[in-house]
Amino acid sequence: MSIPFITAEEAASHIKNGDNVGFSGFTASGTPKVVTVALAKRAKELHEKGEPFKINLFTGASTNDHVDGELARAEAIGIRTPYQSHSDARKLANRGAIHYFDTHLSHVSQDLRYGFYGDLDVAIIEVTEMSPNGEFILGAGLGMAPTIARMAKKVIIEYSSYYRTSFRGFHDNYIPLDPPHRREIPIYKPSDRIGSTILKIDPAKIIGIVPSNDSESIKPFAASDEVTERIGANVCHFLGEQLRTGRMPKEFLPIQSGVGNVANAVLYGLGNDPDIPQFEMYTEVIQDAVMTLMEEGKCKFASTCALTFSDDAMLHFMDNIDFFRDKILMRPGEISNHPEIVRRLGLIAMNTALEADIFGNVNSTHVLGSKMMNGIGGSADFCRNAYLSIFSCPSVQKNGAISAIVPMVSHVDHSEHSVKVLVTEQGVADLRGKDPRQRAETIIENCAHPAYRELLWDYVKLAEKNGGHTPHNLSASFALHQAFMETGDMLKADFARYDK
Ligand code: COA
Repeated sequence: MSIPFITAEEAASHIKNGDNVGFSGFTASGTPKVVTVALAKRAKELHEKGEPFKINLFTGASTNDHVDGELARAEAIGIRTPYQSHSDARKLANRGAIHYFDTHLSHVSQDLRYGFYGDLDVAIIEVTEMSPNGEFILGAGLGMAPTIARMAKKVIIEYSSYYRTSFRGFHDNYIPLDPPHRREIPIYKPSDRIGSTILKIDPAKIIGIVPSNDSESIKPFAASDEVTERIGANVCHFLGEQLRTGRMPKEFLPIQSGVGNVANAVLYGLGNDPDIPQFEMYTEVIQDAVMTLMEEGKCKFASTCALTFSDDAMLHFMDNIDFFRDKILMRPGEISNHPEIVRRLGLIAMNTALEADIFGNVNSTHVLGSKMMNGIGGSADFCRNAYLSIFSCPSVQKNGAISAIVPMVSHVDHSEHSVKVLVTEQGVADLRGKDPRQRAETIIENCAHPAYRELLWDYVKLAEKNGGHTPHNLSASFALHQAFMETGDMLKADFARYDK
């Protein structure tokens, strides 16, 4: 059976208002790039005629402007899950104009298979190689491709010619059995391959193949600055100490590293620190820093869900692809982030916080408790199950007007029960084995910016008047946030007014 080449417009015409649509890819890489542009155009035309048109968008993680950006601007998104990081989609989520639910990346494939969100009408999958009998090689990111390829009633293939070197051999397509039949997932070290390099899709349900030639459009990271470099140095010093004191096996442990500028800078820090031995990664994304660390010999192997390289770094990767062939495996998000494997391998999980409170709860998603930034992504998949879960962030934001260390986080993504270590450019708070009062002391003294320490101690003294295991004064616990909203500066908080 031959699968026809079709235009993006023809492909888009098969997608109906209210359809559940699944996309390949993860953190942009491997995400389709052309059908959604045609779909957004069609949505706008229908809206102009007064007809409704919205689709429900299921992805591995964040996408590119071609998906979240185009569809958000066309107001063509109904339900959105599990993660977005696009400014236009973010605006709609914060207006309540899309039904965005932010959930664990490891859950979405199985939640789709469990039928929690209804049928999957269409899957759009980017591939880089194909054969007429329905065998495909994916691109720079997997996300949920194996599950959506199996579940969707109709499949649209985007065939990318941007990837000029073969990606064959980098993928490990695998779907676990669902309960009550699930067995252990047999990954015992990051390089264990458990699935297939090829993704098979029933040709009978493929509508057609749409050619594409766009890059992932991933911008390079901001250059590290003094603050991010100090955070990186603090993480490295701490990990070196763990090795020296035997709290970490001398062989070291695989690393998971989150997204963003801070995470990228921490990885560069690991690369430069002579006390940190060569390491492997079991993670959901690898960013530019990892490619450099592999070339320097510091990172020996990375299991990931996607190659989230900036466009220039991707060109470099393709030029040197054979060097990386035995050093990288890409897996579906439900495997790269699987709690069973995270716990078994004993990962060092390093993620980024927006804010943390003096007792160790972490907010990674909501600015001032209500404005969605991106989502939790895989941070909780890793944090809850890691050998050692580290969160880092700068101690202050917006020229010191915001303290990242607050009396009570305005939204909880990672609770005090899972967060083991907090790091800022000021220092490291090791929370293991500490009760809430001890945690407050170590977080304020080691991680808070000096300008905020007295204020945070004022809160602790006020809260102590109420006693309890975790002393709080519920009227005053958001005084820093309140001061920022009223005056633009958290330092203006005054706990005396609550001391009645
Ligand atoms: N209050 C208000 N704004 C804050 C803030 C706070 N407590 N903390 C940070 N910000 C602002 C910064 O000022 C910056 O604003 P700008 O864009 O106007 O300059 C913005 O948030 C990003 O901050 P930055 O320090 O550059 O963050 P980053 O690029 O390192 O990303 C997260 C940090 C938390 C947003 C990002 O890591 C994330 O989305 N994490 C959740 C998902 C995750 O962990 N995924 C990985 C799992 S493997």
